[in-house]
Amino acid sequence: MPPMLVLGIESSCDETGVALYDSAGDGGLLANALYSQVRMHAEYGGVVPELASRDHISRLVPLLRQVLAASGCSLARIDAIAYTQGPGLAGALLVGAAFAEALATALAVPTVPVHHLEGHLLSPLLSARPPRFPFVALLVSGGHSQLMRVTGVGEYELLGETLDDAAGEAFDKTAKLLGLGYPGGPALAALADSGRPGRVKLPRPMLRSANLDFSFSGLKTAVLTRVRELGTLDDEQRADVACGFQEAIVEVLVSKALRAVRTSGLRQLVVAGGVGANRELRRQLDARAARSRIDVFYPELEFCTDNGAMIALAGALRLEAGLVGKTARAFAVRPRWPLSGAL
Ligand code: KG4
Ligand code: ZN
Repeated sequence: MPPMLVLGIESSCDETGVALYDSAGDGGLLANALYSQVRMHAEYGGVVPELASRDHISRLVPLLRQVLAASGCSLARIDAIAYTQGPGLAGALLVGAAFAEALATALAVPTVPVHHLEGHLLSPLLSARPPRFPFVALLVSGGHSQLMRVTGVGEYELLGETLDDAAGEAFDKTAKLLGLGYPGGPALAALADSGRPGRVKLPRPMLRSANLDFSFSGLKTAVLTRVRELGTLDDEQRADVACGFQEAIVEVLVSKALRAVRTSGLRQLVVAGGVGANRELRRQLDARAARSRIDVFYPELEFCTDNGAMIALAGALRLEAGLVGKTARAFAVRPRWPLSGAL
C-alpha cells in the first residue's frame, strides 16, 4: 500500500475532531483540530445527545477548513477518510459517518470505519516515543475500562473489563456527588490534590480478585455513604473524600494493569482514554512499573481524550495492514460495538 493522506473524523460523543495523517515516512500528523462541547453540556450536568449531534453538524466544515489551511493540503490530495463508526451516541455517530461518506463520494476515495476504542488504543503511536507491538493497553475512558493485549493493528484480545461503571464514569459520578461540575474527572482530580491522603479510607473493589476485571459502582456507593455519614462537608472534608476516592481507584487500576502485563509476559503498558490524563494515576503507575521494569507509555495529553488524530492514524494503519475491505457506499453506525472479536 503506497503512503496515504488520511482524513480522520471523530464525533462519537461531545468532541468534534478532524485531523490529517500522512502515512509517508516523514509525514505523520499534519494537522489536528478539535472542538469540545463541554461548555454547552455543562449547563445540563451531562451530555445531551440531541444537542451533541446538532453541534457536530455545525463544527465539521469549519474544522475541516482549519486542518486544510494548517497543513497546506487541498481536498484533492486526500486519499481516504476514516471516521468513528462506534461505539458512541447514535445521532452523533451518524453526523460523522454521513459527513465522511458524503465527502468520500465527492472525492471518489475510500472510507475506513474505525472503532473508537481502537483509536484510543493506537493513540500512543502518535507520540515521539511510541511503544512497539505487542503491548498491554489499559483503556480508561468515560464509557469503558478495559485491559487489552494488543498484538498488532486489528489484533486485540480482551483481558479484563469493568463489570459495571467505567473508571471515567466513576470519577464523573463521584464529582457530581461532591457538587463539582461536568465533566467531573478533571475537577475531582484537582480537588483531590488539596486533600489529605489516607484521611478517608474507601474500599478497593476487586483488588484481590483472581481475574483482571474491575468494578467501580460499589466505590461510588461507598463515597455516597461516607458523604451522608459526614453530613455537611466543609471544603477540607470534600477534598479529603476526593483524595480518598482517587487513591482507591488509582490503586485498583495500577495493580490490575501491572498484573496484566506480568501475566501476559510482556514488558510494555500503554495507557489510553481520558482517565489516562490523571496525574496521580501516572505518578503511581510510573513508580510501581519502574520497580517491575515495565515500560509505560502515555499518549500526549491532547490525544488522551477524544480527538480526530487517533481516528486518522487508526484509519491509516488499517489501510496499511490491508484490513479495509471494499464496502458499498452505504453506512451504518454501531452505537454498541464490542472491540474483541468484532474487527
Ligand atoms: O476518552 P474520553 O475523552 O471520552 C470517552 O471516550 O469516554 O474520556 C472522558 C473521561 C471522562 O469521564 C472524564 O471525567 C475523564 O475521562 N477524565 C479524567 C481526567 N481527565 C478526563 N478522569 C480523571 N482525571 C483526569 N485528569
Ligand atoms: Zn473516547
